Amino acid sequence: MTEYSYETHDYDVVVVGAGGAGLRATLGMAEQGLRTACISKVFPTRSHTVAAQGGIAASLGNMGPDSWQWHMYDTVKGSDWLGDTDAMEYLAREAPKAVYELEHYGVPFSRTEEGKIYQRPFGGHTTQYGEGPPVQRTCAAADRTGHAILHTLYGQSLKQKAEFFIEYFAIDLLMSEDGECQGVVCWKLDDGTIHVFNAKMTVLATGGYGRAYFSATSAHTCTGDGGGMVARAGLPLQDMEFVQFHPTGIYGSGCLITEGARGEGGYLTNSEGERFMERYAPTYKDLASRDVVSRCMTMEIREGRGVGADGDHIHLHLNHLPPETLAQRLPGISESARIFAGVDLTKEPIPVLPTVHYNMGGIPTNYWGEVLNPTAEDPDRITPGLMAVGEAGCASVHGANRLGSNSLIDLVVFGRAAAIKAGDVVDPGSATPTTNQASLDKALGRFDGLRYAKGTTSTAELRLEMQKTMQADAAVFRTDRTLAEGCEKMSGVAGKMDDIKVTDRSLVWNSDLMETLELTNLMPNALATIVSAEARKESRGAHAHEDYPDRDDETWRKHSLAWVNGGVKLDYRPVHLNPLLGHNEGGIDLKKIAPKARVY
Ligand code: FUM
Repeated sequence: MTEYSYETHDYDVVVVGAGGAGLRATLGMAEQGLRTACISKVFPTRSHTVAAQGGIAASLGNMGPDSWQWHMYDTVKGSDWLGDTDAMEYLAREAPKAVYELEHYGVPFSRTEEGKIYQRPFGGHTTQYGEGPPVQRTCAAADRTGHAILHTLYGQSLKQKAEFFIEYFAIDLLMSEDGECQGVVCWKLDDGTIHVFNAKMTVLATGGYGRAYFSATSAHTCTGDGGGMVARAGLPLQDMEFVQFHPTGIYGSGCLITEGARGEGGYLTNSEGERFMERYAPTYKDLASRDVVSRCMTMEIREGRGVGADGDHIHLHLNHLPPETLAQRLPGISESARIFAGVDLTKEPIPVLPTVHYNMGGIPTNYWGEVLNPTAEDPDRITPGLMAVGEAGCASVHGANRLGSNSLIDLVVFGRAAAIKAGDVVDPGSATPTTNQASLDKALGRFDGLRYAKGTTSTAELRLEMQKTMQADAAVFRTDRTLAEGCEKMSGVAGKMDDIKVTDRSLVWNSDLMETLELTNLMPNALATIVSAEARKESRGAHAHEDYPDRDDETWRKHSLAWVNGGVKLDYRPVHLNPLLGHNEGGIDLKKIAPKARVY
């Protein structure tokens, strides 16, 4: 093996990823005086959060009555009763504080006439514990909310003297012999040097793995790098079978058309011009939860009522709305519709199709972001020195299905929570761990093996095979047959990693090697997804199993755990059912969130 020299860096905290969660964690750490490094494979403001459009949920009540308890109820119901109660309460309760902090940091939110933060309706967000009309809870900066948040958090992090390592690719975690995380080893893409970051706390904020699928709203950088590193460290991934399809990806390109479009009054029609959501979800119609809308669209297409020459998509109408509203509230998607669908949305409907958008599953954590390494005796056992936040993590606040605009709030609430926790557990005066040589050698050995890989299958070919398999067999609707076939095919696809071919051996701007490393991260995420899905014999949230159409709380109200190491080993851990606050302390009435049929 090649001898790699490396530069060593010592920090209190190393955050891997500079999207909304990574930057919020970085900022919170740095504000407390912790020596903080933020490592990112792309320039921070190009992280995928920049593409988040519609907004960030918080019960500010600027546009009508709202409460954190209603937000919590909607989140519990949205999760199809798989979310952890403590985490969902924490999210809903802390959300207003986290949004006002963003406002004070300088996020340029859209405003009401009175100058308050503008809020729009989003799917699944209601009043009166699901008994009242839709609520306007989603705080928006036009339809570029993620962009506004990301730029603000990056500026604030720089102000707090966080140090950024940009275009560094994290190869693997550095783990001690007894399972503590001690940092991460990285490859600097622009000059080929290797960097060891020793840290008292490592925070994975690496985003989702949408690119395991053929058609996704996610950026090409969403390759599940944190999940890949965690799997190789022998830790499990949680609830990976729950993959969200956003109802309105642009037909063909998969680009996102925000749910804010329906929040502002947009609606879906089939080939008969029928507003079909009125049939499936009589109360909330086009503003039902995402998994519900995606399934209804798929059923319309399957039953021959899709639009277009091949009857394979659906129309989203905004052309009835005043052009001024579209220009003011939805300028970004007006542009996307023109560029990617050739449509002037003031005049014509947009062709849309459910498209992979979000991973509810990820690295299991508690609501402080601490990564779990569960055992039967201790399902909440913590992995020292390691946190995960944002889409990479699974707190589990979204359970089996996430509500729109609960992602941006997840990023900032849990990025902030991780910083609060790190303030407690990281001692700036203590010594930084020294590098475990065995762990480093293993990581560099893997890197070198891929750099000189001499197989016959190119990374692009194998990635495509994986993406097509996942798209076909772990789709909106699943059956025993498609899932069993998917498991078999994915096991074959993953096996071909041993035959991978890398042609560029250099270390400087070697995109061939970088994409191969990314594929080694996508693969365990994809395997965990299909195997966990095959095992879950019920329908819940985004996991719509046609052979088991009902939710089965008795057997399946539990989190899946998947250890991926060659094969996939599954186990389960209980859902947290207890809230943080008792009802007499102002907390939610548990009777309100007891499981029931999920109808909109
Ligand atoms: O539709 C959207 O704007 C996406 C929001 C989200 O995924 O939370």
